[in-house]
Amino acid sequence: MTIHHLRRDYRYGSLKREEMPSDPMELFHAWFNELRGLELPEWFEVNAMSLSTHRLDGGTACRIVLLKEIQSDAFLFFTNYLSDKGREIEANPKVALGFYWPILDRQVRIEGHAEKTDDRISEHYFHSRPRSSQLSANISPQSEIIEHESLLAEMVEALDQKLQGADVPRPSHWGGYRVVADKMEFWQGRPSRLHDRFRYTKRIDGMWQLDRLGP
Ligand SMILES: Cc1cc2nc3c(=O)[nH]c(=O)nc-3n(C[C@H](O)[C@H](O)[C@H](O)COP(=O)(O)O)c2cc1C
Repeated sequence: MTIHHLRRDYRYGSLKREEMPSDPMELFHAWFNELRGLELPEWFEVNAMSLSTHRLDGGTACRIVLLKEIQSDAFLFFTNYLSDKGREIEANPKVALGFYWPILDRQVRIEGHAEKTDDRISEHYFHSRPRSSQLSANISPQSEIIEHESLLAEMVEALDQKLQGADVPRPSHWGGYRVVADKMEFWQGRPSRLHDRFRYTKRIDGMWQLDRLGP
């Protein structure tokens, strides 16, 4: 079978304008909770999302990060502020997020801007992580070239010995971002590629405008 022939029909559901809430966060919560209520294999990380940023040279970059909290107006993830993505967000905070949930034939696309969370939130999440992840966050030069395979393990070992069992401090270069949405699109796969797409756009008065888009 060639890649050309890889296709499936989407039949799970449909979206009707009269059923769309005025606040897209409400629909996001409903979809997310529906997923979390399903019996899913462990490898299916419902909170995995693509994060696109503007490269410093004018290009674009995309990678997966994990959604760790939903606030009333924002989506949170945690990372190294000195990584490529951290430096890119510093220079241009406009970002896009993407979720694909094949079990429900759904996609959600989010556009907006990213801002650092306050330190309290980063501290709280950092200390809820396993000790091994806390050690890695301290030593990993995320996005930098690594010369020797053993380097990271040696650095973790050295830090662990130095701490002698004491709490691992959160490095100041590690923390959260909140992505505040100004556009959110909900896509429901339909048979014969006649998918339902609804896009919410934040208006200047703070209300959301809702439009159906061609699939
Ligand atoms: C399933 C999955 C989850 C990930 N979650 C995170 C995350 O929450 N934070 C993070 O910094 N990197 C995460 N990564 C690694 C990123 O995709 C990426 O490799 C890393 O952040 C470096 O990206 P950058 O060089 O563009 O900054 C994850 C990767 C995968 C595949």
